[in-house]
Amino acid sequence: MTRGRFITFEGGEGSGKSTHATLLAQQLKQQGIDVIQTREPGGSPGAEIMRHIILSGAAKHLGGDAELLLFAAARDDHIRNTIAPALAAGQWVICDRFMDSTRIYQGIAGKTNPRLTRALERIVVGEYVPDLTFIMDLPADTGLARAQRRRGNSQADRFEAEAPEFHEMLREAFRILAKQDSDRCVLIDAGKPKPAVFDQIWTAVRSRLGVGGVARVVEGAAS
Ligand code: TYD
Repeated sequence: MTRGRFITFEGGEGSGKSTHATLLAQQLKQQGIDVIQTREPGGSPGAEIMRHIILSGAAKHLGGDAELLLFAAARDDHIRNTIAPALAAGQWVICDRFMDSTRIYQGIAGKTNPRLTRALERIVVGEYVPDLTFIMDLPADTGLARAQRRRGNSQADRFEAEAPEFHEMLREAFRILAKQDSDRCVLIDAGKPKPAVFDQIWTAVRSRLGVGGVARVVEGAAS
């Protein structure tokens, strides 16, 4: 059994990761590929419990390094229980956020201990580095406004509630990462209309992972 492919979506708040992860999963299914969709933090029963602890802000007062350890614990559980078994069974895995969110949100913007950040990535992620990563690029204020619209009256989560400068720093750091790690990462202009964004994604999947077929037209505006 050939191992499946592992694709991740990364970027700031409201950058359309989830929407395009779902569209890509649908498109791959149409090509006859067996695919699962998952997300972080979370993606396995144990990691979903940790998601709640992290995003509620309950762990914020413990400090950035403790939050980093919680993300690592959640990721370890997610890989062992969801990602690794699926890939081993030949399924493709599409994940909404993964190790690059830790590098950027905790490592760069959150200024966690760089040695701890790198060591945890090596130990926890190990051989499960994604085959392809999309970095959804959008001005921070545009993304935050979208996220706020989507959320309605409910409260901003732990990271969405950070200052605008934090979100600007995220954008810059994601753009640098895309450049530095261009073998794995593709920067996507997420400010374009939805069909044009998906077209960039599907073109990259076809050329980098060798799947065929013409993308079906995606209706509607950007989200
Ligand atoms: P989520 O509601 O999934 O937001 P989004 O739709 O923006 O992906 O919340 C995930 C939040 O957790 C998001 O603000 C980014 C943050 N995060 C980290 O800080 N580090 C990580 O390693 C991961 C996976 C997420």
